[in-house]
Amino acid sequence: MNRFLVAIDGPAGSGKSSVAREVARRLGIVDINTGAAYRAVALAALRKGVDPDDGAEVAGLAKSVELYGGGVKFEGVPVPDEELRTPEVSDAASKLSANPQLRSVLLPVQRRAAEEARRGGGAVVEGRDIGTVVLPEAELKIYLSASPEERARRRAAQSGREGELERVKRAMSIRDRQDSEREAAPLKPASDAVILDTTSMSFEEVVERILDLARNLRKEA
Ligand code: DC
Repeated sequence: MNRFLVAIDGPAGSGKSSVAREVARRLGIVDINTGAAYRAVALAALRKGVDPDDGAEVAGLAKSVELYGGGVKFEGVPVPDEELRTPEVSDAASKLSANPQLRSVLLPVQRRAAEEARRGGGAVVEGRDIGTVVLPEAELKIYLSASPEERARRRAAQSGREGELERVKRAMSIRDRQDSEREAAPLKPASDAVILDTTSMSFEEVVERILDLARNLRKEA
């Protein structure tokens, strides 16, 4: 089957972003990172001094966000990945993402990006609520999980800084709570998602498993 959408959801540090990028590359389709849209709003709010509790102001910023395969723009300008991935932006994005006004502005932004990509051949779309809310019609839904210790270890290793593990563990457990306990589109697997516990799987094993599932879909079509 051509032109299909793969939804990949999961908590921070589950490996979503790197797995989604590699699966997309090997399938020859684009990778849409929806967390980047939330992060772009958080970065803009921090820079412009917008009160994070002012739902309407924050949702207003989201109107300037454009999402596409491989990146995000704010006010028409691509936002560099390193500016989106600081601990301050991670924390602000997680907090802001509980705001239903913001989510309702970003919902069509994400769907538009996915539909555009589908016309171009398909996409791997990753986030927290892709299989449940954004693209319930996705042909393949994956939910990646891993133990909190393993997720913190992976994140700390990514940062390359010594002594990070404890800080990362604390920040991650706060984010986990914020992301899964919020009322608006909380993090949870779709009822028809394939759940992969990646705690003791290698990166390559996770990628191969998803590629197998995607290839089976192609065969069935
Ligand atoms: O995937 P990420 O860590 O880059 O996402 C940053 C924050 O954005 C995350 O803490 C929760 C929020 N988010 C969301 O609520 N829904 C999505 N589809 C993607 C991200």
